[in-house]
Amino acid sequence: MKILITGGAGFIGSATAKQLVGRGDTPILIDNFNDYYDPKLKRDRVAKFLKECKGKFRLYKGDIRDRKFLERVFKKEHPVKVIHLAAMAGVRSSLDNPGLYVDVNILGTVNLLDMAVKYKVKNFVYASSSSVYGNNTKVPFSETDSVDTPVSPYAATKKATELLAHVYSHIHGLKTTGLRYFTVYGPWGRPDMGVFKFIENIICGKMIDVYNFGKMRRNFTYIDDIVSGTITTLDADLPCAVMNIGGDRDEALLDYIALVEKHSGKKAKKRMLPMQPGDVPSTVADIKKLRKLGWKPTTRIDVGVKNFVTWYKEYYR
Ligand SMILES: NC(=O)c1ccc[n+]([C@@H]2O[C@H](COP(=O)([O-])OP(=O)(O)OC[C@H]3O[C@@H](n4cnc5c(N)ncnc54)[C@H](O)[C@@H]3O)[C@@H](O)[C@H]2O)c1
Repeated sequence: MKILITGGAGFIGSATAKQLVGRGDTPILIDNFNDYYDPKLKRDRVAKFLKECKGKFRLYKGDIRDRKFLERVFKKEHPVKVIHLAAMAGVRSSLDNPGLYVDVNILGTVNLLDMAVKYKVKNFVYASSSSVYGNNTKVPFSETDSVDTPVSPYAATKKATELLAHVYSHIHGLKTTGLRYFTVYGPWGRPDMGVFKFIENIICGKMIDVYNFGKMRRNFTYIDDIVSGTITTLDADLPCAVMNIGGDRDEALLDYIALVEKHSGKKAKKRMLPMQPGDVPSTVADIKKLRKLGWKPTTRIDVGVKNFVTWYKEYYR
């Protein structure tokens, strides 16, 4: 089956594409290789993928804000299903660039929803985020909780994509599933994320900034579990859904840092800082809804951090 993946050179997109090739699907990747973080990492993900899966996928370089470009790709490829992951993805940078986030994450998503309707796509799975829960204090976060009070432009754009997907399901009968990803980590990860920076700085002997004086809790979710959950919803073809996808354990950030120390053999130099604007102290997922589709996270954080550290050392030598 042809599956279009936007953000296909990204962390989650490239890993998902590899899994799809493994089961006989043909991923059609779209990415603009922007420089929000080092585009070499994006090129290297694709190069590795090319080596392993040559001839089993196609890549189009272009921007999801460009409707003519999208039209060309849809007309040529006629994808059966779409996994829409392309986005400006950083919470903190969205505070400096709200307009860009609205352009890419909201208008870009509308362009894809339009194409999906026009080309009769059978299922449209898209990335939302745990950030939509804002400063929700009730844990674990459930899909039935109110998400009307986002605390960053990024979170607001993700909530907007959920609303838009609902409209397209309602008006056009497009099947849509929004996935609220919870702190994804693992090999080929995103250098702008805290989980990556901790590894980088600890290995390089640099200070790490630990916000909220370390009193942060997260459902760290290993990349392989994110990929299997994303594909589970791709196969489920639900009429219109939004789901949490996160690890099944509520972990303290300081425990994650301790695991990085253990697997890298280096001691962290911590700078304890207050909470940052736009960030949230605790994101813990209720994952019952996705479990009902038969999915469960399987990678323990000890193993996940070990794999991440091993990849980091090998990739950056
Ligand atoms: N990684 C996480 O922990 C996490 C958590 C919550 C939500 N998400 C969401 O999951 C999705 C994938 O995240 P990721 O971690 O793989 O991020 P990523 O930045 O590695 O991947 C996104 C990709 O989209 C591409 N892209 C951005 N703007 C584009 C545009 N205008 N046109 C075409 N391509 C464009 C980028 O070049 C990048 O390769 C994003 O929507 C993100 O908001 C990720």
